[in-house]
Amino acid sequence: MSELKAMVLSKFEEVFGDGKDVKAYFAPGRVNLIGEHTDYNGGHVFPCALTIGTIGVARKREDRKLRFFSMNFEELGVVESSLDAFVPGGDKNWTAYPMGVMWAFEQRGMEMPCGLDLLLYGNIPNGSGLSSSASVEVLTGAILRDQFGFEVSNQELALIGQFSENHYNLVNCGIMDQFAIAMGKKDHAIFLDTATLEFEYAPIRLDGAKIVIACSNKKRGLGDSKYNERRSECEMALSELQKVVDIKSLGDLDEVTFEKYAGAIADDVRRKRARHAVYENQRTLKAVKALRAGDLEEFGRLMNASHVSLRDDYEVTGPELDALVEAAWKVPGVIGSRMTGAGFGGCSVSIVKEEAVQSFIQSVGEAYEKKIGYAATFYVVEIGDGPRVYI
Ligand code: GLA
Repeated sequence: MSELKAMVLSKFEEVFGDGKDVKAYFAPGRVNLIGEHTDYNGGHVFPCALTIGTIGVARKREDRKLRFFSMNFEELGVVESSLDAFVPGGDKNWTAYPMGVMWAFEQRGMEMPCGLDLLLYGNIPNGSGLSSSASVEVLTGAILRDQFGFEVSNQELALIGQFSENHYNLVNCGIMDQFAIAMGKKDHAIFLDTATLEFEYAPIRLDGAKIVIACSNKKRGLGDSKYNERRSECEMALSELQKVVDIKSLGDLDEVTFEKYAGAIADDVRRKRARHAVYENQRTLKAVKALRAGDLEEFGRLMNASHVSLRDDYEVTGPELDALVEAAWKVPGVIGSRMTGAGFGGCSVSIVKEEAVQSFIQSVGEAYEKKIGYAATFYVVEIGDGPRVYI
């Protein structure tokens, strides 16, 4: 048994009285390599699951109670609820994520016959843009499937997770995070068309380079960010464009067609938002093509361009992410660097030649602390599989 598993099992026993009949599960976090803020615009994304994520230890109860404990929020102690207490939009702490998924299962006719004791431990930094919440959602779905024998595919786990986040947690997120986590595959990124959910696995062979994540340590949640505002700006721009061109989403446009019709968007800010969505989708297509052709340098250039567009047109980076990425661009051996996830804080993702990783961490770390006043945290990550029983 791994040290981590022994640690969560003994914590379960300590918190919930005894450790009999428990089972442990794991769901990863994710990092998006390119294709940001395209998933709710009918565009493409290119994320991958990580080997870090969330472990859950679960045991069925004989009554309808739900008892939750997170080792990441120990100060909250055991949070009690029940299968009769689902209130969309009502739960204010981390338990809103597992509760939301249980509620979403029920909405689909999969009612839990009894309650659960559930302990979670995550080694993804919370609120960092690596999808700790989607990881908890997919993990909860995988636990319910296994504990109660519900017949749901991994892809459905992703859709249920997104549904719960949209309608229980009232965050209008797209499908990328839950999909990347539920469908994760070791050493592969997922090239997903969010308009159709068609996807392909693309092997990530970085030949002597590493994926390095730098966490700004500026916390944020999607609920308190401008995420929903960006989404409605894009929806409004789309409806203005639809008056002059026959499209279903911004993802239907290439750069040339966008520029031809962009004048139909009445407001400069909305035009910039839509421009990002269109160009970023096209960049994602080009990036995957470059990777397939073995052109990692081009992939890196497109990552850099993605950051510039997120900074200038979409305006979701902020001083912290800009400091991380702009410092990264100066380090020899950096192939590409950009913010990842929703933005407004969270992490950057960089592809760095192996021999440059140490100097990368040192120089970006120093530049960041000097500019922002506190330290960033660095993770050299590996691409891992989707949800599973944890052994
Ligand atoms: C968050 C959302 C995703 C996606 C990204 C931005 O992670 O949950 O659906 O929109 O932001 O690309």
